[in-house]
Amino acid sequence: MKRIAVLTGAGVSAESGLGTYRDNGGLWDKYDPMVVASAEGWRRNPGLVLDFYNMQREKLACTEPNSAHLDIAALEKDWQVTVITQNVDNLHERAGSGNVIHLHGEVTKVRPERGRYEESFSESEVIDVGYSRVNLGDKSPKGVQLRPHIVFFGESVPKMEAAAKAVSEADIVLIVGTSLQVYPAASLYMYASPDARIYIIDPAEVPVRDAHIEHIRDKATSGMKTFLSLLGEI
Ligand code: APR
Repeated sequence: MKRIAVLTGAGVSAESGLGTYRDNGGLWDKYDPMVVASAEGWRRNPGLVLDFYNMQREKLACTEPNSAHLDIAALEKDWQVTVITQNVDNLHERAGSGNVIHLHGEVTKVRPERGRYEESFSESEVIDVGYSRVNLGDKSPKGVQLRPHIVFFGESVPKMEAAAKAVSEADIVLIVGTSLQVYPAASLYMYASPDARIYIIDPAEVPVRDAHIEHIRDKATSGMKTFLSLLGEI
């Protein structure tokens, strides 16, 4: 079966009502990511970081996948699909995608903090809290303060290798709704094989100049319809 790697960012969830980060009025216009989403911010004021992600969890509880998430999930009927998302929401899974790599973590999950060795956690320690609040004083079974299961700025991206492998093996790479500003995620499409076809769905200019990358300049929901019709011609 032919393979497709779908790289998504906040733009794929924009039409579900979740904010993007860098569009005007985006999350990083309202909150300083170095305070609420960085390793240093966690060390300095963990309560503020917990509140930021409690707020995101609360909003996600009343958010539904949009037709772009559903169309991406439906690709699994005819393609071997790997969704590689920078998003921490669970909308791809709720739309039915069965193979999702969360490069930057998952807002519905937490794990015990590790102090200086934050990146040395094991998946068995990760706890799914759904949409519940997690506060200072909430601890793991071993009595350690729980932290968001999020890749903070300043931390490594443990799933990058698996993501790069999926892109390198793909016949088609589809990029949806990311400004391609944050590395290493932004470099993922460069792992595509020379024979792979690359498409980008985004209503704005995109920072790639490769002539063979097709830019569908549209929102995710309508852009996915265009992509599906192009797919039918392949
Ligand atoms: N459909 C498709 N794309 C959209 C839509 C839409 N309806 N609305 C906005 N976009 C596009 C914007 O044009 C932009 O290119 O989505 C992109 C959003 O970019 P960012 O806000 O930078 O989000 P993202 O690229 O996902 O950020 C990457 O940065 O702060 C970190 O960890 C955070 O995962 C995040 C990472």
